[in-house]
Amino acid sequence: MTDYIQATVDGHIGVIQLNRPEVANALNRQMVDEIVQQLEKFDQDRAIRVIVIKGNHQAFAAGADIEEMIDDTPFSLEQLNQFAVWDRIRLIKKPLLAAVNGYALGGGFELVLHCDLIIAAADAQFGFPEVTLGVMPGAGGTQLLTKMMGRQKALEWIWLGERMPAEVAYQYGIVNRLVAPELVEEETMRLASQLATRAPFAMKLIKEAVDAAFDLRQEGMTVERKNFYLAFSSNDQQEGMQAFMEKRPPSFKGD
Ligand code: CAA
Repeated sequence: MTDYIQATVDGHIGVIQLNRPEVANALNRQMVDEIVQQLEKFDQDRAIRVIVIKGNHQAFAAGADIEEMIDDTPFSLEQLNQFAVWDRIRLIKKPLLAAVNGYALGGGFELVLHCDLIIAAADAQFGFPEVTLGVMPGAGGTQLLTKMMGRQKALEWIWLGERMPAEVAYQYGIVNRLVAPELVEEETMRLASQLATRAPFAMKLIKEAVDAAFDLRQEGMTVERKNFYLAFSSNDQQEGMQAFMEKRPPSFKGD
């Protein structure tokens, strides 16, 4: 039984629907566990050749659950090591497609960036708003975005925390296909069906070789993770997250 996702199978395609619409699919810890466990099940199931992750019309996912994190400390985060589970997504061998409508922010953007191919609505919005909460991306965002768009641009986007229109993500080569919002699912399933006709073992070998060229370093992930935990020692984290919950702009003091 899962509370926050729905898993279905359509031919050779395994589909994971993120299902927490009351909070724009904010990813709490249980939900991330459910996603990763389902990914691993599909990855081990020989009948499944391609995996799709999708959200709903409003949001793919609006990031990690702020309410769940607000009282965390570097100690509690280190004890939980809540982002370690994300490492397992990078071990999924089958093609992983993201179908993105609406918002993909913070951890939601990081989940998208962990996917192999991204199909987005023309009006989808990506971004890392963590800085506006007094923290930073912690599930691979600084590493993945920097690899994909280069240091200068990644710093600008992550420092400003602004929303990146899908068209911009497409121009940077982050998004594979831009389609009308109502066609995202259809186009994703069409692409997934096409991939499902290709040789599964060859596709896995290709992914492994391309990832070797991509050369994502675990050291970078570790620095990001530790710095994310460290951000929770600041008053700005308390202020940023309180401000979000109280629906007001934050006032940062730098301590
Ligand atoms: N965590 C917890 N609750 C969230 C949430 C989140 N990340 N995102 C949205 N919600 C909740 C809202 O609090 C709201 O709840 P109530 O109805 O109880 O007030 C509900 O979802 C709907 O959201 P809004 O009313 O804000 O809807 P909107 O359409 O006006 O805005 C939004 C949607 C732009 C996504 C906005 O909700 C938003 O900016 N969300 C936060 C995005 C964010 O900062 N994400 C980063 C989180 S930190 C992170 O992800 C760290 C990491 O690296 C893993």
